[in-house]
Amino acid sequence: MSTFLELVNRWSSQLNLYPKPEADTLISWLLEHHLGMRRVDMMHFLEEKDLPDALKQDFERLKTGEPIQYILGHGPFYGREFIVTPATLIPRNETEELVHLIIKENQTSGLRILDIGTGTGCIPITLALEMKGTDVFGVDISVEALEIASLNAKKLKAIVSFSTCDILIDLPQIQGLDILVSNPPYIPLHEKNNMHKNVLDFEPHLALFVGDEDPLIFYKVIAEKGKRLLKKSGKIYFEINERLGGEVSKILFALDYKNVRIIQDLNGKDRIVTGKLSN
Ligand SMILES: C[S@@+](CC[C@H](N)C(=O)[O-])C[C@H]1O[C@@H](n2cnc3c(N)ncnc32)[C@H](O)[C@@H]1O
Repeated sequence: MSTFLELVNRWSSQLNLYPKPEADTLISWLLEHHLGMRRVDMMHFLEEKDLPDALKQDFERLKTGEPIQYILGHGPFYGREFIVTPATLIPRNETEELVHLIIKENQTSGLRILDIGTGTGCIPITLALEMKGTDVFGVDISVEALEIASLNAKKLKAIVSFSTCDILIDLPQIQGLDILVSNPPYIPLHEKNNMHKNVLDFEPHLALFVGDEDPLIFYKVIAEKGKRLLKKSGKIYFEINERLGGEVSKILFALDYKNVRIIQDLNGKDRIVTGKLSN
């Protein structure tokens, strides 16, 4: 017989992939998920042998480094829970900052917005729910990801139109945009070996990696196509690898975008590049 807290401590000592505080949190989430019990209910006594098999199986998955969001089937983004599967990237805190900036800087109603490389749909769904009267679209090359994005929109009661598009080849048929946003794949393939196992072994490589021969290709193509997709004075917002701020801004300058800015995230790293077309 153990308390909830004793069980968390015992199991977290077996979760060597993570620092102790993180391991404690992950195990608490798993226990809460399966037992419907919160950490604050630690007075509750549990018999380890009576725990549900599904909980024990999920703990084994956690030990392999599988992200908790894939195990639970959902993850938080901007105060809402999004369905995630191995076909979708797990939404990141940095992307919440991108969405927050767009909301803060664009308070007019009735805007037309396209998100390229939408994954779970976390960006367009959040924008549709947070910005009044918007017309929001999301495209992705992955049909599996788009199915999840549609499920998320339905679950969260957001109106977003999703469609398939390989942005490196196709021009989305969604023009007259006020805002174009993208968090494209931006990790050069050669950086694969430096990555944490729980990203590399579980998250979709299609969402993460870009070829070493031209790691900026998505930014170049999207910024070029942006000139045809955006209205006059339309804005573009990119999430970037912290080392790419200078290079992505150069791409926007070269294409004659104005007001080009590099914006840092809460950790002080360059994370967003934005610009606008002239009137
Ligand atoms: C870094 S993830 C971003 C996912 C989501 N927007 C987010 O921020 O969590 C990049 C997304 O781009 C999609 N993608 C990769 N190559 C693409 C292409 N050629 N055309 C369109 N989308 C692509 C991937 O399937 C993935 O969903």
